Amino acid sequence: MSLFRRKTVECMLDGAGGVRLRKTLGVVDLTFLGIGAIIGTGIFVLTGTGATQAGPALTIAFVVAAIACCLAGLAYAEFASSIPVAGSVYTYSYATLGELPAWIIGWDLMLEYGLAASAVSVGWSGYLQSLLAGFDIALPIALTAAPGAVPGQTTCFNLLAFLVMMFITTLLSIGVQESSRVNNLMVAIKVGVVLLVVGVGAFHVTPRNWQPFMPHGWSGVFGAAAIMFFAFIGFDAVSGAAEEVKHPKRDIPVGIAASLLICATLYVAVAGVVTGIVPYTEFANTSHPVSYALQAARQNWVAGFIDLGAVLGMVTVILVMSYGQTRVIYAMSRDGLLPARLSRLHPRFATPFLATWSVGLVFGLIGALVPLNVLAEVINMGTLAAFSMVSIAVLVLRRTHPALPRAFRCPGVPLVPILAVAACGFLMLNLKPVTWLAFLTWLTIGLGVYFGYARSRSKLAGQR
Ligand code: ALA
Repeated sequence: MSLFRRKTVECMLDGAGGVRLRKTLGVVDLTFLGIGAIIGTGIFVLTGTGATQAGPALTIAFVVAAIACCLAGLAYAEFASSIPVAGSVYTYSYATLGELPAWIIGWDLMLEYGLAASAVSVGWSGYLQSLLAGFDIALPIALTAAPGAVPGQTTCFNLLAFLVMMFITTLLSIGVQESSRVNNLMVAIKVGVVLLVVGVGAFHVTPRNWQPFMPHGWSGVFGAAAIMFFAFIGFDAVSGAAEEVKHPKRDIPVGIAASLLICATLYVAVAGVVTGIVPYTEFANTSHPVSYALQAARQNWVAGFIDLGAVLGMVTVILVMSYGQTRVIYAMSRDGLLPARLSRLHPRFATPFLATWSVGLVFGLIGALVPLNVLAEVINMGTLAAFSMVSIAVLVLRRTHPALPRAFRCPGVPLVPILAVAACGFLMLNLKPVTWLAFLTWLTIGLGVYFGYARSRSKLAGQR
């Protein structure tokens, strides 16, 4: 039973020094928080991959992915608000489900946060290169992308992706966090850019390009939905803030639904417009599909603004994801499950310095060396797996801990969590076999580390 040893809820509250965060956030703040973390590489870059698979029916793929996210988001919000301590679901699951499930969730979350930071850095690099090309500046081909990322070109290292990760790591390691003012500015820039794409692009649509609408049938649409799920990752930021919300019961579901609905609407509009401007087959070889479509419509100035907006807006997504990753590692290390050095705070900056730089270097190198499509699939698999576990956990906790205080209760239990597991599972089944292989390998390594290292070193070892 030691696999399921748990921290007590009281011990977690003590761990937080008994400090509760102030309740200051309302629906609008939550919605902005969500949008700030959501809009990034998914819409600006993966749209090209999604369009290649689904054709103009990419619009439907976005709707399918959004529905799965919304279901999972509701269950996630109950779990995240069960214990009023800030942190990721790793921490909550440790107190409720026990050590092994918590370890697996934490291990899966590394695929979400860490790899998502790598993936967004790759998207950022593509857009910066497009922006620089407007000024006739080009990097040597070898340094533009990961090996094998561009068919027919010999690329070795995505230099800009690596450099932006180093920049963000420097900020995080000296204690810079995103303020809500910066987040609001970024949301304005990103939404503005997306509206620009739709507003200008709509006048350059050739409806003939929407035929055939579903060139690869439903399997193409569902495959694209499984990829485009990436574009919605980040909505968990809304649930993660449960402790700081004034009226969690009402504001969290509304905040999740509003940010997902706004992003889904924007995404569907962008997908419709860009696949209407250029035939979907043309997106196969571009790293900046959205501005590419505007360039094809001879709107070079607008395309330049899109490049600039995307470059600015994606930085905050990298920041949020890298921050999430360092905090999961910090928490796991503090619990004894990872080496203690990773939770040591820097004497001057009071940040987990070593954890931050380890995350930055490892995921910076991954971004520089692994093509984006591969990364996105693996990230989605890890995130979908974590969300499925969380949805199951909600059902389990309703039985085992009925009296646990919950700032927010998922509506429609057990139906909503069951549908969430089904929707996440369905998307997982639509990912490639090689992604399953990568995911199962990652899980096996995780279990190896748990049984070979973490279990005996856990601070709970020897306790009951
Ligand atoms: N949803 C985030 C993005 O698309 C991760 O960049």
